[in-house]
Amino acid sequence: MSSNSVPGVNLSDHQVMPVIGLGTGDFQSTAEAVKTAVIEAIKVGYRHLDCASVYGTEQPLGEAIDEALKLGLIGSRDELFITTKLWFTDCHSDRVVPALKKSLGLLKLEYLDLYLIHLPVSSKTEDSGIYPSKENIEPLDVKGVWGAMEECEKLGLTKSIGVSNFPVRTLESLLSVATVPPCLNQVEMNPTCQQKELREYCKEKGILVTAYSPLGAPGTGWGNNRIVDNEILIEIAKSHGKSVAQVALRWLYEQGVSFVPKSYNKERMKQNLEIFDWSLTQNDLDKISQIKQIRLNQENPLFPYVA
Ligand code: A2P
Repeated sequence: MSSNSVPGVNLSDHQVMPVIGLGTGDFQSTAEAVKTAVIEAIKVGYRHLDCASVYGTEQPLGEAIDEALKLGLIGSRDELFITTKLWFTDCHSDRVVPALKKSLGLLKLEYLDLYLIHLPVSSKTEDSGIYPSKENIEPLDVKGVWGAMEECEKLGLTKSIGVSNFPVRTLESLLSVATVPPCLNQVEMNPTCQQKELREYCKEKGILVTAYSPLGAPGTGWGNNRIVDNEILIEIAKSHGKSVAQVALRWLYEQGVSFVPKSYNKERMKQNLEIFDWSLTQNDLDKISQIKQIRLNQENPLFPYVA
């Protein structure tokens, strides 16, 4: 499943996922730019690609996979690990299977490797905004929506199912009704958002944590430079002759989580893969554990609900 240099991680349902995936959480790039970037990513060795219906990246990602097959960059679709996510407007039990079928249509795929509930909330009405309004958020029907996710797996539309942005309390309600437990929880995680409590809980329950915004999402409109400008990380990066991004990603790797950095720049994509043949020292790890913790977007109306 993974390209040679990228280690795989075992999910609780026995699928193997390449530990690093290409994130596509970017609302500024054109579909053509996304397609070109994904082809480049496959060329430089990415086999795990992460998208979401709300990012609008399913269609260009599907076109890139088609092109990669035509170019012979991969022998078959099975060599890739593809994740997409159920947006909160479709977080109603009767809308999950149709939403996944729509995503598969855009991706031009028969099945996904992983389908995630994007947010631990539902919408009261159709809300096309990227950030749901406070008035349109309602609690998730955990039993109904998760039951429909399990149905997706049973129908063979996805190999694995999981969640994203779920805090411990929502995971607890989910686990109390699940027949198939979620194999993974994708949350904001980086050296300035270390998610210690959530990670401990997930580890105890056999749920893999995947880090989104592993670099703090600089230049994306919703993130900032707090990782790339962090003095402690800059100093550690200098001592190893690596970039700050590589230190942040290596730290995640050493925490036993997977991660989906977004880069559409070929050199940075390559750089982000070059983290598996060196390690941080105990002193580095001690310093990183002291970094002041700050969350993204605290004024977002979703903030009270998400991990
Ligand atoms: P670009 O696409 O131009 O490379 P995150 O993964 O935390 O969401 O952050 C994504 C942002 O980080 C993107 O703006 C991306 O820009 C930038 N980025 C990705 N890799 C690196 C890197 N190795 N060094 C510096 N910036 C990076």
